[in-house]
Amino acid sequence: MTDSGAGNRRAGEDAAGKVDKRLDALERLFEEVGGTAYFGEPVTTTEHMLQTAVLADRAGQPAETIAAALLHDVGHLLHGLGEDIAERGVDTDHESLGAAYLDDLFGPAVIEPLRLHVAAKRYLCATDPRYAKRLSEASARSLALQGGPMSPAEASAFAALPHARAAVALRRYDEAAKVPGKALPRFADFRPLLRDCALRHAGNAGCAPAAAPL
Ligand SMILES: [Fe+2]
Repeated sequence: MTDSGAGNRRAGEDAAGKVDKRLDALERLFEEVGGTAYFGEPVTTTEHMLQTAVLADRAGQPAETIAAALLHDVGHLLHGLGEDIAERGVDTDHESLGAAYLDDLFGPAVIEPLRLHVAAKRYLCATDPRYAKRLSEASARSLALQGGPMSPAEASAFAALPHARAAVALRRYDEAAKVPGKALPRFADFRPLLRDCALRHAGNAGCAPAAAPL
């Protein structure tokens, strides 16, 4: 093997080792922090995120959108502000927190739908009256803190964003992923998918799917 071939292999092993450590940390967050109730809903945060990922998977979404669905509320596991936070009138900006935490691990096809999933709720409430009616009580309460439904100008600007389509799809799964007592896969079952997405990003192969405006 040439020096550069050996160097490339070492770099690949280093990247894989770093990804595995980050996934270990995420798995610990899911297992150790995500077991509390999900903000006024009848499921835990971990159950809610697993259900969101299962719905994305069943809908035939690309791996990066499934990863975004699985991780979309990871910011809630990081802020440590307690599950009654919306009732106390505080917007945690958990989507920005989660996106910042994962930004070095995944490419935009994972990060952007996650970052936009609250904006997607505001978009859907402005453009789809049936969606707005189906919001849970807790979700309707947090909508007010998040700025309420978008104005027409905000909705058109949102729809033109490259990852708007994936963000809206994620949001619909998010809203449906609050069913108590469902049998679910474990975080570990998604690790190969997450690892592939992260290594594609590390190798700069890009995460091309799902970059579609509405
Ligand atoms: Fe959610």
